[in-house]
Amino acid sequence: MKIIATINEKGGSGKSTIATNLACALHRQGARVVLIDADPQGTTRDWRAASPEGANVPAVIGADRPKELQAAIKDASADYVVIDTPAKAGDMSAAVVSAADIALIVIQPSGADVWASAPTVRLVRQKLDMGREIDAAFLVNRAAANTRLSKLIRDGEWNDYGIDQMKSTVSNRVSFAIALTQGVSVFDMPDTAAQAEITNIIQELKEANWL
Ligand SMILES: Nc1ncnc2c1ncn2[C@@H]1O[C@H](COP(=O)(O)OP(=O)(O)O)[C@@H](O)[C@H]1O
Ligand SMILES: [Mg+2]
Repeated sequence: MKIIATINEKGGSGKSTIATNLACALHRQGARVVLIDADPQGTTRDWRAASPEGANVPAVIGADRPKELQAAIKDASADYVVIDTPAKAGDMSAAVVSAADIALIVIQPSGADVWASAPTVRLVRQKLDMGREIDAAFLVNRAAANTRLSKLIRDGEWNDYGIDQMKSTVSNRVSFAIALTQGVSVFDMPDTAAQAEITNIIQELKEANWL
């Protein structure tokens, strides 16, 4: 079982968007997937509640406290557990990083998102310093094709954190917002470019032997 977490203490960076779409992609590839909503705000639970009947989406389990998270992971009989993490999470962030095999630190092309990632980077470092394993990478979300800022962030010029940055990026696309609202994923929508961005993330993780 591989545990993948989307994380960043900045709200709105796209943690829930990436978590739901990654979980759906893996689920559609035939894997057993459990999506854990570790955010008391419950975005992923609301997303799942909005799903139409018979939707091709994985089960969602809510876990608002570290102990519940550990229990949910222990109970999951899955190939992949995807954890959607809250912003400003404190002990919950620590519990998620502790449990995760892969931490995707989701940032939008903005200083605010980069700076907000510092506590997560520290948690990753602490785990590695303790001799425990975790694969962590920044994932740029809502990249805009032609802006200088997007390019600067995508090229990693800001990244002196010593943490990998994924080559795959996710663009700003209306279909991501619609999918989140309708309880589905971009794989239920006619946006093949959005689908490819999510599939590329999985492919890149597999090629790195992280997944
Ligand atoms: N790549 C994207 N393209 C378009 N809208 C996006 C994208 N990523 C996130 N959003 C929108 O931004 C808002 C915040 O995203 P969300 O995933 O809930 O962030 P977080 O979980 O980090 O707080 C949502 O309304 C979502 O639909
Ligand atoms: Mg969220």
